[in-house]
Amino acid sequence: MKISVIGLGYVGLPLALEFAKHFPVIGFDIREDRIKLIEKGEDPSHELLPEEFMGKNIQFTADPKNLKKASFHIIAVPTPIDDHNLPDLTILLNATSLVGKQLKKDDCVVFESTVYPGCTEEECIPLLEKESGLCCGKDFKAGFSPERINPGDREHTLTKIVKVVSGCDDEALDIISKTYELIIEAGIHRAGSIKIAEAAKIIENTQRDINIAFMNELSIIFNRMNINTYEVLEAAGTKWNFLNFFPGLVGGHCIGVDPYYLAFKAKELGYHAQIINSGRFVNDSMGAYIAKQTVKKIIAQKKNVSEATVLIMGITFKENVSDIRNSKVVDVIKEFYSFGVKVDVIDPYASKKEVKKEFGLDLKEKASKGYDAIILAVNHKEYSMLNEEYFTSIATDKQFLLI
Ligand SMILES: NC(=O)c1ccc[n+]([C@@H]2O[C@H](COP(=O)([O-])OP(=O)(O)OC[C@H]3O[C@@H](n4cnc5c(N)ncnc54)[C@H](O)[C@@H]3O)[C@@H](O)[C@H]2O)c1
Repeated sequence: MKISVIGLGYVGLPLALEFAKHFPVIGFDIREDRIKLIEKGEDPSHELLPEEFMGKNIQFTADPKNLKKASFHIIAVPTPIDDHNLPDLTILLNATSLVGKQLKKDDCVVFESTVYPGCTEEECIPLLEKESGLCCGKDFKAGFSPERINPGDREHTLTKIVKVVSGCDDEALDIISKTYELIIEAGIHRAGSIKIAEAAKIIENTQRDINIAFMNELSIIFNRMNINTYEVLEAAGTKWNFLNFFPGLVGGHCIGVDPYYLAFKAKELGYHAQIINSGRFVNDSMGAYIAKQTVKKIIAQKKNVSEATVLIMGITFKENVSDIRNSKVVDVIKEFYSFGVKVDVIDPYASKKEVKKEFGLDLKEKASKGYDAIILAVNHKEYSMLNEEYFTSIATDKQFLLI
């Protein structure tokens, strides 16, 4: 069997390389620039090391005709939201249509992109049928298997996470399970239906989002009470069943996005998802909240806000990764700009070029001096080594604010 993986990003590339230990693989991406880098053994997502490309039976290509050589196809393309926080399936449907055009009798297609329950069967499979002229179940098989990797996490890697799989029928479920079983050491969970597998993935991330939103709300309340949220959580955490979550900015392409997919589907079915939307509202408001709190404190120090300069440490969407997509640090920066505050941004992981392209911001090589406030926006490991002496050395005076 030859496997094709469509979309060689955070999810697709490690998956393609893992399968290439057992099967001949076609790694397909529409972006030729990414294919050129990957062919040289460079991961455009900066997650994989060059040695992980060595000795694998894999052909990288940007030509969709090569997909015909494979009989088992895995689609792992982005599923973002639009400017109105609604699911944007354009990329997924384009990739599906492209695979549909190359589909042959007895092929199998697995979707790994995160979607709302129902999307695979209502949108993707009909498109595969339309483009191929084949009938799902009878002529080809399809299924859904969500990806659960966590960028930057070197412990819970692809093969060490239980893989949830599902199929359009029992035969599909069997083929898909047996294929993934060859690479997943942690084992396979056979879900009862495609919708169950889709729902399982989306609630994993929605649950995290809601829990973090609760922590963020607590931090707003405790801030008003002049108590330190971290100390409260440390004390509460001594109870065996207290959940281990912290306040923070929720960005990236998963946790801050997936709940909107579920809320969209719920609304389509006539239910307005209160808790999910509240969680999203709280988390999406945190960037502006952080900036406003800082501005208030600068004013309280009798400083002129329009002459103040703030240092923001970290712009990636989470710690120790280079990914800046949907980073909520940008909300903090925008809010500062709206008050006329000058902002310097540094980040040891983010690419200067990408930050300029994505947000129009100039990343500084390193911090200078004379900051009225310093915001540790991302918990990069390099920052946890810094001490108070360092921060006072780059602040305006001893009254500086560290947030
Ligand atoms: N990044 C993660 O850690 C993670 C974890 C779990 C689930 N997911 C989900 O997996 C899916 C993929 O996310 P990602 O982070 O790997 O995305 P990504 O942006 O890193 O990579 C996607 C790749 O798909 C390519 N692409 C776009 N359109 C294409 C097309 N028509 N044909 C072929 N290739 C195409 C892009 O050029 C890019 O290389 C999303 O649904 C995401 O929500 C991601």
